[in-house]
Amino acid sequence: MILGNLFKFIQRNEDMGVEKQRKIEPVREFNIEEFIKKSVEEIKREIGNEKAIAACSGGVDSTVAAMLAKIAIGENLKVVHINDNFRRIGESEKVVEELKKLGFDVILVDAREEFMNALKGVSDAEEKRKIFRKTFYEILARVAKEENAKFLIQGTIAADIIETAGGIKTQHNVLEQIGIQPRELYGFKIVEPLKNLFKPQVREVARYLDLPKDISERMPFPGPGLLVRVVGEVTEEKLEILRKATQIIENEFSSEDIFQGFGVILPGKATGIVNGKREYGYIIAIRVVKSKDAITAEVPEIPFEKLKHIAKKITTQIPKVTRVVFDVTDKPPATIEYE
Ligand code: XMP
Repeated sequence: MILGNLFKFIQRNEDMGVEKQRKIEPVREFNIEEFIKKSVEEIKREIGNEKAIAACSGGVDSTVAAMLAKIAIGENLKVVHINDNFRRIGESEKVVEELKKLGFDVILVDAREEFMNALKGVSDAEEKRKIFRKTFYEILARVAKEENAKFLIQGTIAADIIETAGGIKTQHNVLEQIGIQPRELYGFKIVEPLKNLFKPQVREVARYLDLPKDISERMPFPGPGLLVRVVGEVTEEKLEILRKATQIIENEFSSEDIFQGFGVILPGKATGIVNGKREYGYIIAIRVVKSKDAITAEVPEIPFEKLKHIAKKITTQIPKVTRVVFDVTDKPPATIEYE
């Protein structure tokens, strides 16, 4: 059923001839065992006895991609997790621990300062994405050089490529499709074992590989993390507020009921009353969507009482927030993320 909608979407793209241009061949008859066998063989053939690093946020896509690479090349793989300052509360530490439990050799790069410095004073959405991507790949290039790795494994999925090539936004992990040659610029070749799959298929592979439920069913989170949920210039203060709001909102939803449920910090401030005094505080938007493939999304009906409960929790626990609003816009015309 789920895949039915995906195929309709793919058909639409084929009719427009975009698939060829976007260099993806979405898998129709999906047989997990066959997929795993084929992609492991392909990774082995491509990488041979060379070393590789896998960029891993801890989400389902990058963890499955790293897992396939580990099956293929074993000890020649190292996993790199970058703490960019845009993860959830305590997320980087937790991800590193989880990856180690799965048997990966993990390198944690604390790049919080580097990202914040690079993004200082930048408020344009696409500019922020471009700076994020540049910083992200420069760090990976440094690690690859240190590790003598000639390949970078990443968990790009079909939706990432479609959206970037379609000019909707420059996804952080899509390079070749927009004319960037990673080998020339960063010294590694990119290997993307999941580039022909959509999210439901990646989750199926994750379950088949016995990854913990916390990973296989984890709510999608954008590569640039909270950066694209702070509208405008990112600051430490806004991030601190948004991390707390994210925890409150995510705890109210699970990926079994909805596709994504999260908070966004809007630009500007709004008047409120804190401890009996007039106060200009931040505005948080609650964004909840149902979707199968992230290409289209619908805002589900959320009980009003639940929304009021979340708003109360946010304003009580985060006094710097004086206003909470609920976004009722489907995709299209909106996108899921704000930037
Ligand atoms: P949009 O905002 O385009 O998001 O409707 C579609 C899906 O993609 C996620 N997203 C990203 N994932 N790198 C990623 O790995 C990115 O740069 C990125 N931007 C958005 C978003 O959370 C949603 O699931």
